[in-house]
Amino acid sequence: MSTRILLTGGAGFIGSNFVRFVLRERPDCSIINLDSLTYSGNPESLSDLDGEPRYRFVHGNILDLELTTELIKECDVVVHMAAESHVDRSIIDARPFIESNVLGTQTLLDALRRADPDNTKRFVHVSTDEVFGDLPLDQLEVKFTEATPFAPSSPYSASKAGSDMIVRAYCHTFGINACTTNCSNNFGPYQFPEKVIPLFVTNLIEGKKVPLYGDGKNVRDWLHVEDHCEALLAVLEKGAAGETYCIGGNNERSNLELTHSILAAMGKDESSIEYVTDRLGHDRRYAIDATKIKRDLGWEPTRSAWPGALENTIKWYVENETWWHRVKSGEYLSYYEKQYGGR
Ligand code: NAD
Ligand code: DAU
Repeated sequence: MSTRILLTGGAGFIGSNFVRFVLRERPDCSIINLDSLTYSGNPESLSDLDGEPRYRFVHGNILDLELTTELIKECDVVVHMAAESHVDRSIIDARPFIESNVLGTQTLLDALRRADPDNTKRFVHVSTDEVFGDLPLDQLEVKFTEATPFAPSSPYSASKAGSDMIVRAYCHTFGINACTTNCSNNFGPYQFPEKVIPLFVTNLIEGKKVPLYGDGKNVRDWLHVEDHCEALLAVLEKGAAGETYCIGGNNERSNLELTHSILAAMGKDESSIEYVTDRLGHDRRYAIDATKIKRDLGWEPTRSAWPGALENTIKWYVENETWWHRVKSGEYLSYYEKQYGGR
């Protein structure tokens, strides 16, 4: 039997990769993509699917209870990844993060309860490892697990922790059929060039310097976006209701190490680095122990190994300048406004 997926936030980085991944890997699946097209939602990331009968785009907001209720009724499962996603923006203005990430998730869960009173439809809530706060740089054996208490540092991670807690509460109180995932930093094609890898790569293509925050010693665990998509499918299809799953690449790099790898791959040297004022409240280190998802669902990363996966990602930005140039120059925003009449 075919599975109809309602995906929220499918015009963003992970969402657009997820749409393509699922349509390729599951010929029996169809997807409705609900996205409000904020600055980071880009229909051009899915323009190759124009005319694809298994894919439909709906321009709308997860805060719209009537719309989301009707869309959930049309589908068998929900994968929820719509969110404000950038830490730096949350430091400048936390409000949209609370609106979309907290209230948006709560609205979607209420829509799920209205559309599916018997709790038959699987709901996958896509969250982040940032809900756990950060780890020390001098104890590399310590990693986040599903049992790590929440200790979010930024308004972004606090809003995601809020959304995770609401999902937990709806599982406990109403018995909804939900799983939550907490994933590390993703990289790959179609990532908005405010995040460090596409920002640094596109800056270097443009002949600019790369702004490295603080001392550059902060560590992130890098996972290729298609590995994340595969893990999400495993959770969707095999995850146990009410469970959470940590997803990581086992690929920890300091930002300085990451920067050197990018510089080397692009034939640049240290003179392209500009050390700038640190991010406020900057988390030192993230690292994931992904034992549970490997043991229970048989998933482990296969596409994230460096330097190959990083070099392929850099190559994608080099070859797809039209995609990122319009977004980065701001031209895309006015194009979007013309198309859809504002945010
Ligand atoms: P993104 O910013 O590229 O995409 C977010 C998408 O959500 C955009 O298309 C945007 O238009 C849409 N959106 C935002 N608010 C909305 C609303 N109220 N209604 C409908 N659509 C809305 O983000 P991303 O990097 O693709 O992240 C996707 C999800 O994965 C987020 O929930 C994020 O917290 C989580 N996550 C991201 C990473 C990462 O490294 N990028 C890692 C772990 C978890
Ligand atoms: O860990 C998962 C999270 O990863 C996701 O939940 C977030 O949605 C996603 O944005 C990402 O958060 P980070 O803050 O880790 O990603 P970002 O690319 O913004 O930054 C990565 C590291 O690089 C971080 O230590 C800050 C640093 N950095 C970032 C930028 C944008 C710089 O040094 N300079 C920069 O200009």
